[in-house]
Amino acid sequence: MYRRLSLTGLRCIVLFGLTVACGVQAQEQQQPAQPLDGAALTKQKGCVYCHGEHLEGTEGKAPSLRGVGLRRDKTFIEGQIRNGGQSMPPFGEALTNDEIQTLVQYLSQMKEAPAKTNTDAKQRSGKKH
Ligand code: HEC
Repeated sequence: MYRRLSLTGLRCIVLFGLTVACGVQAQEQQQPAQPLDGAALTKQKGCVYCHGEHLEGTEGKAPSLRGVGLRRDKTFIEGQIRNGGQSMPPFGEALTNDEIQTLVQYLSQMKEAPAKTNTDAKQRSGKKH
């Protein structure tokens, strides 16, 4: 009599434990949507290959973009990304609209004043024609 009761009690506890474990597992299945990140995109899409790891510009390849928001508006930046330029390939086909908008937004906020020792100006005027 005594023994039977405690066995039933044990079964109850085991069953209860299983139910709780299953409930917890079912709740772990949500993934937050990944927002696009302009800085990450410049790396993923190869902009840094020409513009430098921190978009500071590279000798002979491409100008710095760190102050591009000071000299260019969003329309220009978007056009440059979509259609390319003299030495820059077009990215209109390679990027989605969302990716382009994220890059435009990111770059138009780059308003770092050029440093005194910046080679950017030299590079740009040397590049004309
Ligand atoms: C193959 C090298 C190369 C790659 C890759 C490249 N660029 Fe460029 N980019 C240039 C060059 C060179 C210029 C200077 C203008 C020209 O010749 O087109 C330039 C100019 C720009 C400008 C205009 C800067 C200004 O002050 O007028 C923007 C904005 C820009 N690039 C953004 C990007 C973005 C965003 C990416 C990646 C999606 C990228 N570039 C990838 C070479 C490159």
